[in-house]
Formats: sequence, structure tokens, C-alpha cells
Amino acid sequence: MTIDETLPSQRRARVGWAYQAAEDVARTEARFDAWADEYDADVAELCDWRGPAETVGPATRYLAAEARILDAGAGTGLVGETLAGQGYSNMVAVDLSQRMLDVAHAKSIYRETLRADLMEPLPFPDGSFDAVLSIGTSGYVTGQVIPEFARLIGPGGHIIYTTSDARYRDGGFEAAVRALQRDAILESVEIGPEFLPLPLSNPEHTARIHVLRKLP
Ligand SMILES: C[S@@+](CC[C@H](N)C(=O)[O-])C[C@H]1O[C@@H](n2cnc3c(N)ncnc32)[C@H](O)[C@@H]1O
Repeated sequence: MTIDETLPSQRRARVGWAYQAAEDVARTEARFDAWADEYDADVAELCDWRGPAETVGPATRYLAAEARILDAGAGTGLVGETLAGQGYSNMVAVDLSQRMLDVAHAKSIYRETLRADLMEPLPFPDGSFDAVLSIGTSGYVTGQVIPEFARLIGPGGHIIYTTSDARYRDGGFEAAVRALQRDAILESVEIGPEFLPLPLSNPEHTARIHVLRKLP
């Protein structure tokens, strides 16, 4: 089913509008499709979106320059652009919104861009990547994504994602991580300090970067 969504003309309303659809995957896709052309300017100018910049520290600490990276929920490729600036070039983007991916594709930073729902099995073989990054997506998916990300990385590979403490707890991330730790599949190597991901538009909202490593 195709849903049409009209982008709010008020730029300030757009972050909340996209997020309001989070429980409904078709509506989320339609809203990000509608927002794609304006997304980069809106999140930079109105929100000062810090997710991509916050990813640089953990990425450079844990990932070699030639690491095969899956940017899961890549959107328009802001994380990929930031990492390309650090010398990473072996990156693949997946996202629910083809229009967001079209913007990412035009930046020529990903080897491949592919429309996929992170809540479904992803079309890559086990161990295809050295790292899965998922930045600014945890409000739209649940901890169900963590075992699938773990499948996609090889031993010693990393999962780097952002989430708020509330979403970590209530969105099933903590439970998923605990289960994989109990089964000796993953270890948690870093939970970063709180930062303000959207300091201009949502100064009350905090998040942390979580880093997981797959055990041998
Ligand atoms: C707030 S944006 C973040 C995009 C990008 N990571 C960034 O840092 O700018 C959230 C992204 O998650 C995508 N998304 C939401 N639900 C998804 C799902 N179930 N599967 C794949 N992508 C999804 C949206 O289409 C959107 O591009």
C-alpha cells in the first residue's frame, strides 16, 4: 500500500512529525520519503543533529579504515559522509525510505544503497560486515534488530548504535543485549556519556553511543 504524506511547511514541526509515525512502518517510510530533499538542511540548521559527529570517536577507536561497514538506517547518508571524511570507503547503506537513499546514493560515498526494513531479516549473508552502525534509528525500531546486526558481523566485529536510556530499556535493546551476552555471542565494550543529539530543536532529549563486539 502506498501512503502519501505531505511534509509540514513549518520546518520546526518536521522532526516530531517523522517520529510520530514510528509505530507504523508504512507511514514512517512515507514521511521520510516526503522529507528526503529537505532533511539534511533541516537537521543541520534547525536541530544541529550531533549523531554523525558523535560516531567518529567510537568508529575510529574500533574500526580499521578498510572495515566493511553497514550503515543501517542510513537515511540521506550523513553518517557515511562523516565517516568518509575519516577515510572510510567500504560502506553499504540500507534504509526503509528509497527517497532518503536516493539522496545518499547521489553523494557517492556508499558502494551500495539498498531499501530494506531493519525489522525484517536483511539480505546479506552471515558475517558480511566488520561493523553495523545504526545512528538515530532506535526510536523507529526495537531491540529485535540487535541479533540480526550480530548475525551480519564476523567474530571481533562491532555494532555501534545510539539510543536514549529510556528507549534502551523500554525498546527491548537492553533485553536483546543481555540475551546475546548470556549466550556468549556479544560483549558490551562501551556505553558512552550522555550527549544532546538535537541540541537546538530538542534540548531535553539525551542519548548515548553503545558499542558491542561479537565474540570469537
Ligand atoms: C532520524 S533518521 C536518521 C538517519 C541517519 N542515520 C542520520 O544519522 O541522519 C531515521 C532513519 O531511519 C529510517 N528508518 C526508520 N524505520 C526504519 C526501518 N524499520 N528500517 C529501516 N530504516 C528505517 C528512516 O527512513 C530514516 O532514514
